Amino acid sequence: MSKKIAIIGGGNLGSAIAEGLINSGFINPNELLITKRNISTLDSLREKGVLISNNNLEAAAFADYIILAVKPFQIKDVLTLMLPNLDAKKHVLVSVITGVWVKDIEEVIGNKFPIFRAMPNTAIAIQESMTCISDSNASKEQKEFVGNVFDKLGKSVFIEEKLMDAATVLAASGTAFAMRYIRANIQAGIEIGFSAANATLIAAQTVKGAAELLQKRGSHPEQEIDKVTTPKGCTIAGLNEMEHQGFSSSLIRGIVASYKKILSGM
Ligand SMILES: NC(=O)c1ccc[n+]([C@@H]2O[C@H](COP(=O)([O-])OP(=O)(O)OC[C@H]3O[C@@H](n4cnc5c(N)ncnc54)[C@H](OP(=O)(O)O)[C@@H]3O)[C@@H](O)[C@H]2O)c1
Repeated sequence: MSKKIAIIGGGNLGSAIAEGLINSGFINPNELLITKRNISTLDSLREKGVLISNNNLEAAAFADYIILAVKPFQIKDVLTLMLPNLDAKKHVLVSVITGVWVKDIEEVIGNKFPIFRAMPNTAIAIQESMTCISDSNASKEQKEFVGNVFDKLGKSVFIEEKLMDAATVLAASGTAFAMRYIRANIQAGIEIGFSAANATLIAAQTVKGAAELLQKRGSHPEQEIDKVTTPKGCTIAGLNEMEHQGFSSSLIRGIVASYKKILSGM
């Protein structure tokens, strides 16, 4: 029997998940329902046949899997209002809400429900997210289903919930870190002679290709670096100068600073 999904909170992330699941053919549009209070912004999903509602109780009655995609401060009220239609034997909850822990959800709905947390990044809009998932009280079949959902939206990995803050930094903030690296390449590319458009194309495709080399070959970055560093050549001269200026160290310290900021409660 196919499973029905309701997405509570049809904003940037909720809509991107809906688009990805429909475009990939993972689910029939009439098995997917999405809610928000102002439903006028969901017309493009409605045109694709997705069910639209501003009634979360109706959504709970409809779905087996409920993806929670509202803002962190809204989740308590949203769950409290859905409670009359929530059933631990039927429903699986999947929260993509940053900083909301399983225990926070259980405080409202009790500890009998299978609950997943998922941390995607903004590339979910083009089905290229890196999504870290943790699970609580879930069966093998439920884990498989939720893993498949996020595999349709990019790549996914199961982690322990205690690593969710670290996942936020490495995978979600990581998009910003990668963008800054690419931007620096563009700035340098213009200085050494390229137009902005060509520098952007070259920098972005080079980073994409480098990432795909690692994913497709399963190699270590340093193995790939060895292939392009000729003795006394230009690549090793550039790399060593970057390291003298603190390149790797600045990235590591930036990631650790982000992580410490999350741990401090901001
Ligand atoms: N954007 C990302 O890439 C990303 C990545 C990882 C995690 N997250 C997390 O995902 C969550 C959503 O982020 P977002 O960027 O998509 O925010 P967003 O665009 O503001 O989406 C939140 C949506 O929730 C709707 N909403 C509010 N109250 C509701 C209710 N009672 N019932 C149903 N819908 C309701 C809002 O629409 P109305 O006001 O019309 O109801 C709004 O469209 C956040 O908690 C964020 O931490 C986002």
